[in-house]
Amino acid sequence: MNYQNPRIAAVAKSLHERLTQLENKADILKAGELKALYAEIPTLPNEQRAAFGKEINVLRAELEKVVAAVQEQAEELPPIDVTAPFEVNSTSASRPKLLAVQNGSRHPLLTELDHVLDIFYRMGFTAVESRQIDDDEHMFGMLNFPEGHPARDDYDSFMTVQTDSKGKQLVAPAHTSTMQNRVMQKYRANLEQGKPIAVVIPGRVFRNEDLDARHEHTFHQVEGLYVDKDVNAGHLLATFKTFLSEYYQQDIDIKSQPFYFPFTEPSFELSLSCPFCQKAGCPVCSYVGWIELLGMGLIHPNVLSDAGIDPNIYTGFAWGCGLERLVMMKHDIEDIRHFEAGKLDFLRQFK
Ligand code: DAH
Repeated sequence: MNYQNPRIAAVAKSLHERLTQLENKADILKAGELKALYAEIPTLPNEQRAAFGKEINVLRAELEKVVAAVQEQAEELPPIDVTAPFEVNSTSASRPKLLAVQNGSRHPLLTELDHVLDIFYRMGFTAVESRQIDDDEHMFGMLNFPEGHPARDDYDSFMTVQTDSKGKQLVAPAHTSTMQNRVMQKYRANLEQGKPIAVVIPGRVFRNEDLDARHEHTFHQVEGLYVDKDVNAGHLLATFKTFLSEYYQQDIDIKSQPFYFPFTEPSFELSLSCPFCQKAGCPVCSYVGWIELLGMGLIHPNVLSDAGIDPNIYTGFAWGCGLERLVMMKHDIEDIRHFEAGKLDFLRQFK
C-alpha cells in the first residue's frame, strides 16, 4: 500500500519490519506509533482529519490481516510423537496395567456362533464366512434388486470412497445375502454330482440404523442356502424348526407369514414360540407368546440363473438370521448394544 501521508508511510514501513521480528504478532496492533498517529487526529486542521484518519485505518486493517493469517496457521495442531505415548521414566508399578490374558474371556457371540455352526454341521451344512466390504452387484444386482428399486432403501449401509470397476462405491454389506451368488458358483459342481449345495454363511453386517435396544449399526447374520432338485418350503421350515429346537434345547414351534424379499419367491417371515414362556406370555415376547425372528424363502429363479444354476431343474431355499437376536433370546439380554460396547461387566457374565 502506498500511503499519501509521508509520516504514515514511514510508520507503516517500520511496523512491517518489526512485525517480522515479533514472536507474538498481535502485539504490533498495540504499537506506540500507531496510537500516536490516532492521538494526532484531533490536533489536525479540520480539512485534513478525514484523509489522515482513513489512512491510519487502512494501515491498521493491513496489520490485522497479517496477524490473522499468522494466527490461522498457528492453529494447525502439532504432530503427536507416537513413539513416546507414555512417560518412559515412570516405574512399572506406577503405570496403568493391561488386563492379563487369564482375565480375558471369549466374546459370547463367538461362543454362540460355534454352537449354531455346530448344529448346522451336524445337519450336513458347510460354512463360508462373508466379507466385510463388497460391491453393489453382490449387494443388489445379483439378488434381483433392479436398479433404483425402492427395496434397496431397506439396506442402507456405509459406503467407502473407493469404487469398483463400474465406478460404484464399495459398501459395508447390509446382509450376508451378498455371498449367495459366490457360494452357489463355488459349490455348483455338487449338483452335477447329485449332491445338494448346503452352506451356512456367518458374517458381520452393517446398517445405517437409528440405534436403540433392538437396533445396532454393526451386527451379525447367519445366512443359509440349500439347493437341490425338488426342494420346497416344507424343507425350509423343517430345517429351521429342527435348528431352533436344537439351539434352545426344547421343542420350538414356528409360524410363517408372507413377506417380500426381491431374492426369494415366495418369501416368509418366521416367528418362533417364545423359548422363555412356551407361548404362555412373558416380557421377552411382549406377552404374545411368539417372537419374529428372521426372513427366508425359496430362492428366486433369477438368482439361481445368475449363479449358473438352471431354475427349471433345481430349486432351493435360503434364510438370513440375526445372530444377536438368537443369543439375546437364549440369555435374556435386553439390549443389543451390549455386544459391541466392550463392557467388562457384561462380558464377564459369559466366562
Ligand atoms: N437378507 C435379508 C435381510 O437381511 C434376510 C434374508 C431374507 C436372507 C430372505 C435370505 C432370504 O437368504 O432368503 O433382511
